[in-house]
Amino acid sequence: MSTLLLLNGPNLNLLGTREPGVYGATTLADVEAQALATAQRLGFGLEAFQSNHEGALIDKIHEAGRRHKAGELAGVVFNPGAFTHTSVALFDAIGGVKPLPVIEIHISNVHAREAFRHHSYISPAAAGIVIGFGTEGYTLAIEGLVRKIKAAHPA
Ligand code: DQA
Repeated sequence: MSTLLLLNGPNLNLLGTREPGVYGATTLADVEAQALATAQRLGFGLEAFQSNHEGALIDKIHEAGRRHKAGELAGVVFNPGAFTHTSVALFDAIGGVKPLPVIEIHISNVHAREAFRHHSYISPAAAGIVIGFGTEGYTLAIEGLVRKIKAAHPA
C-alpha cells in the first residue's frame, strides 16, 4: 500500500505557459517530479496521470478504487481543473470508490477569482482540500494525504 496517484485534469498539461500570472512558471513535468520527490521522502511511490477528458479521469479514479481495495494504492491527490466547477460525474466517481482518500488541490485561490470558480462539486467528496499555494500546494497536498493515510493505518 505504498503508492500514491497524482491526477491532473484539463489544461494542466499547459502549466508553465498557461496564464503564468495565475498558475506560475512551473511545468507539469516539474510538478510531477517534485511530487515524486515528496512522496519518496515520505516513504511512498508516486504515479502521475493527466487528462483533458472527463471520462478518462473517471476511469482512472475507478481503477484507483480497485487498486486501493487490493492494497496497491494508498491515496490520490487530484487537481480536477475546470471540471471542479461542473462535474457531478467526478463527484460520483470519488463517492463510488470510498474509502479511497482523495485530496483536492487548486494552484490558484479559486475563491479570489470569478464567481463560477467558487463552487466545487468535488469538495464534499474530498478527504481534504489545498487551495491557493501555487504549485507548492502539490507538496502540501501529498504531505496531508500521507498524514491521513498514517492516521488511518497506525504502524
Ligand atoms: C485550477 C482552478 C480552476 O478553476 C481552473 O479551471 C483550473 C485550475 C487551479 O489549480 O487553480 O484549470 O484547478
